[in-house]
Amino acid sequence: MFNDILKSFNLIAQEYHIEKFGEGLINRTWKITGLGNTNEFILQQINKNVFKTPTHIAENIDKIGAYLSKHYPDYLFVLPLAAVNGDYMVKHSDGEYYRLLPYVKQSITLNTVQTRSEAFEAARQFAKFTNLLAGFSVTKLNYTLAGFHDLSARFEEFKRVVKKASAERLNKANTAIENAFAHQNIAEMHQSIMNDGLIPLRVVHHDTKISNILFDEEHKGLCVIDLDTVMPGYYISDVGDMMRTYLSPANEEEPDTSKIEIREDFFSAIVEGYLSEMSTNLTEAERELFVYSGKLMIYMQAIRFLTDYLNDDVYYGTNYPGHNLVRAQNQFTLLEKYIAAEDTFQQIVSNTQNQPR
Ligand SMILES: Nc1ncnc2c1ncn2[C@@H]1O[C@H](COP(=O)(O)OP(=O)(O)O)[C@@H](O)[C@H]1O
Ligand SMILES: [Mg+2]
Repeated sequence: MFNDILKSFNLIAQEYHIEKFGEGLINRTWKITGLGNTNEFILQQINKNVFKTPTHIAENIDKIGAYLSKHYPDYLFVLPLAAVNGDYMVKHSDGEYYRLLPYVKQSITLNTVQTRSEAFEAARQFAKFTNLLAGFSVTKLNYTLAGFHDLSARFEEFKRVVKKASAERLNKANTAIENAFAHQNIAEMHQSIMNDGLIPLRVVHHDTKISNILFDEEHKGLCVIDLDTVMPGYYISDVGDMMRTYLSPANEEEPDTSKIEIREDFFSAIVEGYLSEMSTNLTEAERELFVYSGKLMIYMQAIRFLTDYLNDDVYYGTNYPGHNLVRAQNQFTLLEKYIAAEDTFQQIVSNTQNQPR
């Protein structure tokens, strides 16, 4: 398989060492290292179950790459390499889509956020990406995952599934379902943001977990990677998912909810990092939604896990019975702790905004 794929990029497989690489959960990733030369690449197979039209991804990255190299030639943007036929993604005879990227030298990947500075650096990189693309016409981009962060649609889906779930699962999930309805104002808020066009659509990454930033050895942020979900969206998706995944030392897999904590100093690191790049660009209405962003993304993930549990676990892989319910309960706990800190968070956002720059 590698022979043919690498050949489409004008590389001879025998001249390279090929190994599985990284801890990404979506695509399949390999590192390709030259045996007699110093070339290093990343080869990826796009997950077609998730991304139904992989060529839409390549088109987006191509357009963004052209814009960035014209307007910001010094910005480190990891563009896929063109194949011999000129395409940025090739379809192999196995029906799968592959792309080749330059390996970012001396980069490391973090899988958990351990320091404030890492949270700051990541937030700064995601903000920089969106900020540099503020002048790019967002309507030119494809939606690579339709309805991905559409909380209103996800809430409707949750209500549909509640009506048809098995009695046993409804019973076990009773408290979680009550929680979901108790916080439905978060979904209503999202609906009014969409209806009233309160905030602009921007070029948004949509998957701001820490492993999608490459760091240098001093843990300074180098660049954003994993651009499959880059599409039009609201900035609160990116900020909110950082809140969801950076604030607590225990992640969504943790069954012991007492380990879920909100690190307030990490919240201020995200605010400072994000505003260090985006501050002059955010509208007043966007700023007002900074704290809401965390509620949006935590609540959405909670109801996605809960919906999947009620739907007999068709979407997320599970390792034990009730796994998705445990994940949902974990996210509802995180949501409650986040809401408990909301006043402090508002204060942090206004203080950071008012600091002279
Ligand atoms: N250009 C690159 N240079 C160095 N490492 C990379 C590069 N692209 C991806 N990686 C590594 O591969 C991992 C998985 O890639 P990613 O694009 O995030 O795929 P997934 O969608 O599966 O998360 C990353 O977390 C990172 O460790
Ligand atoms: Mg990734």
